[in-house]
Amino acid sequence: MNDEPCNNLQSPKKSLPRHLAIIMDGNGRWAQARGLKRADGHRAGAENVYTIIAECRKLGIPYLTLYAFSSENWNRPKAEIQELFNILTEFLNRFLPLMQEKCIRLQTLGDFEALPFAQRTALRHVMHATEQNSAMILNLAINYGGRQELVHAVQKIV
Ligand code: IPE
Ligand code: MG
Repeated sequence: MNDEPCNNLQSPKKSLPRHLAIIMDGNGRWAQARGLKRADGHRAGAENVYTIIAECRKLGIPYLTLYAFSSENWNRPKAEIQELFNILTEFLNRFLPLMQEKCIRLQTLGDFEALPFAQRTALRHVMHATEQNSAMILNLAINYGGRQELVHAVQKIV
């Protein structure tokens, strides 16, 4: 049974923001400092996302935007891009039960149609499965454009 309220968009307590936006960065440096592979850093970063989503939901923050993969990230080595995409689908599948339990809806920013089939399918699946969830919105920015487009998108949301 779902005992989490799931009718209106939640509101934070006073002094907390209504919208938290996070540019994911430093995964590689984090891994390097520990003698790990970059992919391990990406994995650890994705693991943190789980905690961040749950915490925002608890605090009543209605909008969480995660900048996960910019259009400039296509310049990275093919193998790293592949690992990032694998992590994306893996974590989308893992996050879905949490999102359903906590009444969180997934939306996207950017052109995710350019992603490989598996990632497009997983994103569509989770967006569709959570479209009735109304307590909190998780915006995943994927293949989002240059600086100007980014500023524009944030302004539109705000
Ligand atoms: C963020 O970490 C992951 C993505 C943007 C895909 P980075 O991969 O940019 O890590 P650093 O900046 O090289 O440490
Ligand atoms: Mg970086």
